[in-house]
Amino acid sequence: MIVLIIVVNVAYSLQAGLVVGQGFTSCEYNYNCTANTNLGVINLNGANAADPYQTSDPVSKAEYFWKPCTDFTVSGVTAGALQQSPGASIQDIGMHAQAFCDVLDGYIRFNMMSSTFTRFTYVKCVCGAASTFIFDNEYSSNDFNFIFTSNHCCPNYSPPGVRVTVTVSPGTVLVIIFFTGIIAYFLFGTIFQIVLRKAEGRERIPNVSFWSDLPGLVMAGFKFTFTCGHKLGYREI
Ligand SMILES: *[C@@H]1O[C@H](CO)[C@@H](O)[C@H](O)[C@H]1NC(C)=O
Repeated sequence: MIVLIIVVNVAYSLQAGLVVGQGFTSCEYNYNCTANTNLGVINLNGANAADPYQTSDPVSKAEYFWKPCTDFTVSGVTAGALQQSPGASIQDIGMHAQAFCDVLDGYIRFNMMSSTFTRFTYVKCVCGAASTFIFDNEYSSNDFNFIFTSNHCCPNYSPPGVRVTVTVSPGTVLVIIFFTGIIAYFLFGTIFQIVLRKAEGRERIPNVSFWSDLPGLVMAGFKFTFTCGHKLGYREI
């Protein structure tokens, strides 16, 4: 008796269910818009939308623009983060050339310094599905704090459905080849019998006499094995 066990190993390398960006203790910024942390790599490249993220200070009404990975230009000013205060000219509050990251209260922050080294943009990166960029607060007219919530703030994040690893064991491949062979044998065998041999009825099954004798042959084999050949009259060797 042959017992076939089919084992298909399917391993999905999808995001482990992190809810908030807590638990970080270290951050090292790479200048390709990624950061190495104690929990894995955070890659903001996928969050680099064509248009800059936008938010505003509800009190001062200042508008803020931010691109996670590249500098951009608004009204002749080029930076990675820009401030537009009412009645004032637009100003650079952080350049990607001056980017760095740090850890605050277990969250990763992506930060930038202005070209004048006087203003700082701090973007707290929160692991979550929302994809929002909001103004948090302004400190001393020099430090600007924002909260960015995105899947891209999750360590080792890969967008769903893009990177799926399917691992099939060699045994599984053999089993698949075995069954494919059986199906092909009966399919093409039957077509051969019908088309070329003009077979009818059960004769359309390929090698029908062999297959119909097979159960009997198997039974005889078992009987011979269990009776050591005595009851069927085989001679002992
Ligand atoms: C980014 O830079 C780091 C450090 O140089 C490197 O290890 C990593 O593979 C780079 N990642 C990408 C996506 O280019």
